[in-house]
Amino acid sequence: MKTQSQSGSTERTNEEMIGRADVNDLEAILSVTNTDVDEIVHLIRAEQDALFTWDYERSRGALIKLYEKAKTSQWNAETDLDWSIDVDQEKVVLANAEQNAMGASGALAGLAPDTDLADTPFAKFGEKEWIQLGIESQNWTLSQFLHGEQGALICTAQIVETVPWIDAKYYASTQVMDEARHVEVFAKYLNEKLSGMYPINAHLRMLLDDIIADSRWDMTYLGMQIMVEGLALAAFGFIHTLTTEPLLKKLLRYVMADEARHVAFGVLSLKEYYGELTAKEMRERQEFAFEAAVRMRDRFLQQEVWDRLGLPVKDVVKLMMDLPERQFFQAMLFSKIVPNCKKLGLLDAADGWLRERFTEIGVIQFEDWVDTGEEYEALDEVAKDRAAVAS
Ligand SMILES: [Fe+2]
Ligand SMILES: [Fe+2]
Repeated sequence: MKTQSQSGSTERTNEEMIGRADVNDLEAILSVTNTDVDEIVHLIRAEQDALFTWDYERSRGALIKLYEKAKTSQWNAETDLDWSIDVDQEKVVLANAEQNAMGASGALAGLAPDTDLADTPFAKFGEKEWIQLGIESQNWTLSQFLHGEQGALICTAQIVETVPWIDAKYYASTQVMDEARHVEVFAKYLNEKLSGMYPINAHLRMLLDDIIADSRWDMTYLGMQIMVEGLALAAFGFIHTLTTEPLLKKLLRYVMADEARHVAFGVLSLKEYYGELTAKEMRERQEFAFEAAVRMRDRFLQQEVWDRLGLPVKDVVKLMMDLPERQFFQAMLFSKIVPNCKKLGLLDAADGWLRERFTEIGVIQFEDWVDTGEEYEALDEVAKDRAAVAS
């Protein structure tokens, strides 16, 4: 049912946006699964306009600065990381649990050691089972990062074609190289150091498909640079803090330095463009942001891991959604997205529609955290490492 808002836009219902009326409808969330896990090629019909611009004037100072930074911050996945480091996943799970004072159940990221798991599917878990969960969780998490990175590669290549500004085309081309490197490092880490790759999570795939298929160039930015990469930056930061494995730690630190620039690229570009949009057009962007937020929240329920471990998927997911410490972990993933949406005017445009939605899904508390427009300077680990070597 479509209704008319005060701003005159035609609102879409939850069913139209996310395929279900209740955001927390567990049956509906779990009914979305990847039914073609042997798929090799996945085709999306994209109908964007490719734009030449004959205006070569360099006029966007913030994008010029970002482009210059990107040129000097390139790193080489083969030579800047020490791939000779041996990774024993079982030892890593135990060391991580010890470092983070979480006990073996710390394999469930964010779970406190004193969490009462009696009467849950984890009641009979001993150390062996927790370690197995930790290993599968890592395989799954890194696999989804890998697939998301390929999404970023494709989206940013699209932006090179579709964005009308020369400074943005220049910058986007550096991001394409960054994303190729990210796909390369995650694929290599999974192949050489971990014990199995998971196919793409169906919620993540739906989101990437929607971003790639949308013909409006700014929607590619919103879906990828603001939402997917904003979440990735928070998730990489979380795992970078939790892990004791030196190769992964450095790999994530380098990837984060790049991602901070990518999110800044989104914030800087959209800030200019959104200033020209009507309330109706802003509402469409808000709905897209909400859809993306729900898809990403759904994907982090990691239903494939529970399935692979032979656990009752619905019971475990219900538990994950209800445990306060897991809710905290899930919410933290939005700690970059929400301030960036605020900076772009997305929270409060069109009668504050997105503010209400972010309140409903429990992430509005991050609205006044730092946005990512400038954070890339502080996160430039590549420059810091090079300065340390030179001195
Ligand atoms: Fe990336
Ligand atoms: Fe990125």
